Amino acid sequence: MNCRVEPAQPEDLPAIAELVAAVGGDLEDLLAEQFLVGRADSTSRGKIVGCGRLKPYPGFCELASLAVDGEWRNSGVGRSLVAELVTWYEGPIYLICEDDVVDFFRRFGFVLIPMSGMLSGLQSKWQRYVAQLGHINIMRRYAD
Ligand SMILES: CC(C)(COP(=O)(O)OP(=O)(O)OC[C@H]1O[C@@H](n2cnc3c(N)ncnc32)[C@H](O)[C@@H]1OP(=O)(O)O)[C@@H](O)C(=O)NCCC(=O)NCCS
Repeated sequence: MNCRVEPAQPEDLPAIAELVAAVGGDLEDLLAEQFLVGRADSTSRGKIVGCGRLKPYPGFCELASLAVDGEWRNSGVGRSLVAELVTWYEGPIYLICEDDVVDFFRRFGFVLIPMSGMLSGLQSKWQRYVAQLGHINIMRRYAD
């Protein structure tokens, strides 16, 4: 299955919202310029089968709203998205994730950090997920 990773366009936002909602991801303030999408078929009209974004905060970025269509998982879409997103910012990148994807993110240099390393900008999101799920991880990556 072929998939091309490229910057999102504003008209992609409904498809992005659908993908992110399907995995219970971050739907706040969806801005096309923060997103990369994985598009099937290598055509400009190809279906969006994956997405992810880099959200800027003062002094760091957050990798968020990463989602791959169920039928396209394990095809390298998630890897392509993350590998490119981490090149967009040279400072520290944080993310909040469930246990089942910690090892996926370790592949890209993210490491688990203790809650004492939590940034105030991510506190409210972290608390929201903890309230929903009981536990959530925070990971950080420094540029190579
Ligand atoms: C996590 C997710 C984005 C991975 O996307 P994907 O396209 O299936 O992943 P890829 O096919 O690019 O996988 C790349 C590598 O990571 C591995 N991998 C995939 N999911 C993994 C996981 N959950 N844990 C550990 N390794 C994983 C693959 O086996 C592959 O290994 P390889 O290079 O040895 O072949 C996808 O499963 C998903 O959308 N999950 C639900 C949403 C989610 O949890 N998002 C993250 C919230 S921040």
